[in-house]
Amino acid sequence: MQSLAIVGAQWGDEGKGKVVDYLARHADVVVRYAGGNNAGHTVVVKDQKTVLHLIPSGVLHPRKIGVLGNGMVVDPAVLLQEMADLRRRKIVLHPGNFFISDRAHLILPYHRRIDLAREKSKSRKKIGTTGRGIGPAYEDKANRCGLRFSDLLNKDLFEEKLRSVIREKNLYLKAILQEPKLNASAVLREYLGYRERLRRFVTDTSLLLDRLLKEGKKVLFEGAQGTLLDLDHGTYPFVTSSSAAVGGVFSGCGIGPLSLQSILGVIKAYTTRVGEGPFPTELQDEVGAHLRREGDEFGATTGRPRRCGWFDAVVGRYSVRLNGFTGMALTKLDTLTGLNPLRICTGYRIGRRLVTEFPSDLEDLERAVPVYEDLPGWREEIRSARRFEDLPQATIQYLRRLESLLGVPFSFISLGPQREQTIVLQNPFST
Ligand code: IMP
Repeated sequence: MQSLAIVGAQWGDEGKGKVVDYLARHADVVVRYAGGNNAGHTVVVKDQKTVLHLIPSGVLHPRKIGVLGNGMVVDPAVLLQEMADLRRRKIVLHPGNFFISDRAHLILPYHRRIDLAREKSKSRKKIGTTGRGIGPAYEDKANRCGLRFSDLLNKDLFEEKLRSVIREKNLYLKAILQEPKLNASAVLREYLGYRERLRRFVTDTSLLLDRLLKEGKKVLFEGAQGTLLDLDHGTYPFVTSSSAAVGGVFSGCGIGPLSLQSILGVIKAYTTRVGEGPFPTELQDEVGAHLRREGDEFGATTGRPRRCGWFDAVVGRYSVRLNGFTGMALTKLDTLTGLNPLRICTGYRIGRRLVTEFPSDLEDLERAVPVYEDLPGWREEIRSARRFEDLPQATIQYLRRLESLLGVPFSFISLGPQREQTIVLQNPFST
C-alpha cells in the first residue's frame, strides 16, 4: 500500500494528530490538503505535547517530506513561527524536505480582521469560527481575488494585486464593518519579508507528488477538521470553508483519485464539536462534563471548551458513505471508562418521523431527538491494554456494536494520548 488519506469522520478534533503520528512512521511524505491554521493537531511524545496548526504533524518523525497542498490557505507568520518552534526541537525544515504549493492561497491581515468583525457583528449569524481568517481567504479564492504563493514570487505583480485588493477591502471594512482601514504599504512590507524567508520552499507540489508517487514513495494525506465541517457535506452554514472530506485530497493536491489506495476515517468513541451549529447528541449534564473533563476536550487552536455528547451512528454512517472509508481508527475510548450505561444514537425522531439518514435541513437537525440504544459500561482501567483480547467484555461489546453500525472494521483503537496507548489491528501501510 502506497498512499493513504486520514480523514476526520465527525466535527473535527477526532484525534487525527495521534493517528497521523503513528502512521507517518511508515510514510515517506506527509501532505496537508485543506484548511489552514484553524486546525490544531496534537501529538504527545514522552509527555512532550506538540500542537501543529499548519505543518503536517508527520514531520515530527525524522527524514519525512512535508507538503502544504494547493487546497490550503496559509498564514505565513504562523507558518514561520511553527518552523521556528520545530527548529528549537531540532526538526529543521529545508528546501529538500518541506514544500509549499505555489497555488496555495495566502491569508492576509484583512482576512483575519473581516473574520473577527463578522463574528462580533449582531446582524450576522455567528458561526463560532476560529477567527484565523479562514472563511474570508477561501471567499477571495472563489471570488478570484485571492493572492497565491506564486504571486508572492513576482514582487511587482504582487504589489499591484495587493494594493488593488486592499483598496476594495478598506471600503468594505470601513463602510460595512465599521473597522479601521489597513495600510497597504505596511502590509506589503510585511509580506515581502515573508517572501524572502519562504520563497525557497514554494514549488508546483502537484508535479512533485506525481513524481514521488511514481518513484514508489509512501504518501500520507493528512486531513484537517472533519467531514461534518466540510463546506459541501457538513452542517452548512456551520462549517469551515474548505473540502475537509476525502474529495479535498484530489482538488487540494492536484492528484488523480486513483492515486489514493486507502482512506482511514478517524472517529471518537463519543462526539464533540466547537463553535455553533446543531449537535443532536449534545449533553449538557454531568455525563457531558465527564467527557469534557476526562477527554480534555478543550480546543487545541482556540482553547474553547468543546461541546460533548454520545456517539452518533447516524453521523458515523454518513461519513462512511461520503468518504468510502476502507478502515477506521477509534479514538479516546478510555474517556468512556466509568460511565454506565453507554448510549449510542442510532436514529433521530424529527416530529413524527424516525430518520436514520443524516438530514441536510438544519431546522430538522436542530429539532432532532436522538433515539438511543444502551450498552453496559465498564469500570476497569483500559489504557494499558495492548491487545484487543486484553479489553473488558463490555468494552469489546461496545466496539463490536459500533463496528456493525458503521459497517467498517476498526484498524486502530486509541486508549490514551501516548503513542504506545494504541491497539493496532491492521496497519494500512503494511499491506
Ligand atoms: P473556521 O474554519 O475558522 O472558519 O471555523 C468554522 C467552523 O469550523 C467553526 O465552528 C470552528 O469551530 C470549526 N472548526 C474549524 N477548524 C476546526 C478544527 O480543526 N477542529 C474543530 N472545529 C474546527
